[in-house]
Formats: sequence, structure tokens, C-alpha cells
Amino acid sequence: ERVASFDYVVFGATGDLSLRKLLPALYERDRDGQLPDDGRIIGVSRIGLDGAAFRALAADALTQHAAPLDPATTDRFLARLDHITADAQGTEGWDALASRFDGVADKVRVFYLATHPDLFGPICQRLARAGLVTARSRVVLEKPIGRDLASARRINDEVGAVFQEGQIFRIDHYLGKETVQNLLALRFANALFEPLWNSGGIDHVQITAAESLGIERRGGYYDRSGALRDMVQNHLLQLLCLVAMEAPASLEREAVRDEKLKVLRALAPLTGADGLTHSVRGQYRAGAIDGEPVPGYLDEDGVAADSATETFVSLRAELRNWRWAGVPFYLRTGKRLPQRVSEIVIQFRPVPHSIFGASAGPVMPNRLVVRLQPDEHIRLRLMTKEPGPGGLRLRAAALNLSFAETFKRRVPDAYERLLMDVVRGNPTLFMRRDEVESAWEWAEGLLGAWRDSGERPKPYTAGTWGPSAAIAMIERDGRTWHEED
Ligand code: BG6
Repeated sequence: ERVASFDYVVFGATGDLSLRKLLPALYERDRDGQLPDDGRIIGVSRIGLDGAAFRALAADALTQHAAPLDPATTDRFLARLDHITADAQGTEGWDALASRFDGVADKVRVFYLATHPDLFGPICQRLARAGLVTARSRVVLEKPIGRDLASARRINDEVGAVFQEGQIFRIDHYLGKETVQNLLALRFANALFEPLWNSGGIDHVQITAAESLGIERRGGYYDRSGALRDMVQNHLLQLLCLVAMEAPASLEREAVRDEKLKVLRALAPLTGADGLTHSVRGQYRAGAIDGEPVPGYLDEDGVAADSATETFVSLRAELRNWRWAGVPFYLRTGKRLPQRVSEIVIQFRPVPHSIFGASAGPVMPNRLVVRLQPDEHIRLRLMTKEPGPGGLRLRAAALNLSFAETFKRRVPDAYERLLMDVVRGNPTLFMRRDEVESAWEWAEGLLGAWRDSGERPKPYTAGTWGPSAAIAMIERDGRTWHEED
């Protein structure tokens, strides 16, 4: 559907996120006819570029990340682009930006801040001072919002001094992933699972976001951040929320976020000794991915030689509420693991009593796997009888819903959906201030436990599934990490 006319102003326009994700996502929306005829995309960065140079940079990025391009869309899209050189903490460039909006009062204005979070406040202040903030303006904040609770609060206060909460869109791109939204459909558009979706029916939950990539060229950011801040505080906790939340009354703006917040508030703190017992930190050493040698973390650019930043974390979380008491949620994420795979595994309880003798083989519990990427599917492990005239032998088999096979269409990138939700003014898939702060409060407890212990992350070889302690952590509970059936 076509939405009201809008302009996108992207701060950090020459950065990685803008070139790899934002411009390609807007391009795809343009290809689908969702951008208004007069919709402009104004890039802002410190770099002295004129419009033509920015268009050339964008064209290059699109060739790499939105191919195959279609010439008519490319011409139309590039013509929308412009660039302003501005100083987020100074005065340069702001008049020029304001002049682009002379006489443009009624369009929706989206200010997308793809910059360091310390600049969110200063940019908002300057937007206000330049008279750029109208009632139809929205601001999008990229993660991370700060690096702990105090800095998150400060940023939220600074942004909140200029924009109303309803105008603020805190993005977590995992919420824009198709399969993540499918989790809502799976849970709440099917009556089948919900009666079992609690500690009575579910033994435990695993959430994995594994990457084979290292830290790319983001050493400066990553070394101050680490896996807990980069992935767990936001993406993994958001997935946990969608798995664990109560049914919202509707998909109306606040209903879903209210339920997610309750989950975050029910997380048992992982502070002190609990934090150390129920988590494992790792840092990769040189190794190989797909047979290609890769350097260790400490040898990456931008990383301190004695860095104690974790590139892997696994932990055991619990929720203190009626539905989930006693059900562990095992979370795991890391860089330089053997493959890129993100999935949620729901392991149901075993049958209460087996009528099959030992010769039939084990009765394995049902397991629901929601695979987010790379190949999106929902798979349910069932026990079946192995065909044949002999004695009854059991075998695990899968009911398999592959999205590529069932729907045969391109899966849009998460950003495509979210960028359009901003324009439509729909915040359901964005994080509210209280969610972000609640997630930081919990993460900070674990960070504190690590810091106080003085221990270093455990080394693991690039191309393996993290330190062996991460495997021991779940096996101690008599369980194992899910591997492909
Ligand atoms: C980002 C993190 O938020 O998510 C990156 O900063 C990480 O470190 C990325 O690589 C993973 O996203 P995706 O969509 O590739 O799973």
C-alpha cells in the first residue's frame, strides 16, 4: 500500500549499516512502488561529499547488496538521493539541512540515526534548534542504545526532550525478520500449541544466533561492546520475549510491548555467583571457517592486545512467573562459529510413560524448531514407526514447513518492513523505552558478575561451537544443544 508522502534523512549515511542495509531496503521498497513520487532520501555525514558523490557511493552499494538491479528503479532511486555534510556536535551543515525543508511542512519526516549512540542526543537537539522537528516527524534509533542502564537512560532522556515517545522508533532488526513475526502467527493463529506452551508441556527452550563472520571492520565498536551487549541485550532477549509472553489482546501499538515488558521484568537476575554459574564467555582464537584460515580476535584491527571482550556467550535464563517457573531458557550467540544459523528450539516434555520395549529404541521428546536464518523453516520432530514388517521400531521424523518451498517468493530483509512501519507510524515491532531499560538492567547484572570475578573469557578456536564449558553448562542439566536432525 502507498503511505503518505515522506522523506528519509539518514545520519551516518556513508556508514556500513546505511550502505549495506538501509539504502538497499529503501531501494527494494521503491522497486515495489512504495515510495512516494516526491519522496527524498537525504544522507547526512561528516564526510565532505556532494550529492553526486553520494549517489555514486550508493550506486556501488546497491550493486553489491540489492542486485539484480532494475534500471528504471535505479534511476528513480538515485534521483531521490542528496547529501549534506554536517557536524553532529557542531554547527556546520544544519542550515543547509534546514533549507532542504523550506516550504515542506506536511510530509512525514523520518530522521534515522545510524550513528554512535553518544550522538543521538546532540543530533536531536540540533534538529530541534534548526526547526526541523514537526508533529509529523519521527526519529529512528539504531541499537545499541547506550552501553549500560545509565547511558541508556541519559540517551532516552535527551531524545525524549525533543521527541514524544510515540515519535521514537528504537529498532531491533530481529523483530523485522519474517520468521520472528511468524512466531506470533504460530503461537496465536494456531490453537494447537498454546495449551502446551508452559512449564507443564515444555521442558526447555534454546535460542541460538550463531555467526561465522568475525567482527569485520567494526573492531573499535565491538571491543567496547562484546556479545552480551551486541546481541543478547537486544536481539536474543527480544526473541525470548516473543516465545515467552502472554497472548496480547491485539497487535495494537502497546499491547505487544506491554506483554514483552512483563517477560523482561520476570527474568531472574544473573548477578554475583548465579551469573558465573549460569553463563560462559568465550573469545575466539585463530582457526578456520569452511577451510579458510581466519585470525584470532586479539589480532583483529581495533581490538586491544589484552582485550577481555567476549565474542561468545551462552547462558541459562529463567523467568519468575507462573507460566515458566522451572523452565530453563538457554541462550547462545557468538562470532566465528562454524556456520550462520539462528533458531529457536522448543523442547516439549517426554511422554509420561513409554509402552514400547527397549527393542523399539528411545522415545524422544517432541521438538519444535523455528529457524530464522539462513533457510527459514518451522520443523516439528515427531516419533513415528519405522516402516517394515518386523517388530515395531521407533524413529524420529520431522513435519517440515519450509518457507522457500511453501511461498516461493523473495523473503524481504528485516529493514524493509521496519522502515515502512516507521512511515506508517506503527511502533509494534519497535522497542519501547521501558523495554530497553529493563533489558539493560538485567544485562548489567551479568556484566557486573563478570567484571567482579576478574576472570577472562575462555578461548575457543574459530570454527568451533565456542568453549567446551558452554557444552558442559547445558549437559550439567542433562540436556544438549540442538543439532540438525
Ligand atoms: C547486529 C550486530 O545487531 O546484528 C552484529 O551488531 C551482528 O554484530 C548482526 O552481526 C547480526 O544480524 P543478522 O541479521 O545477520 O543475524
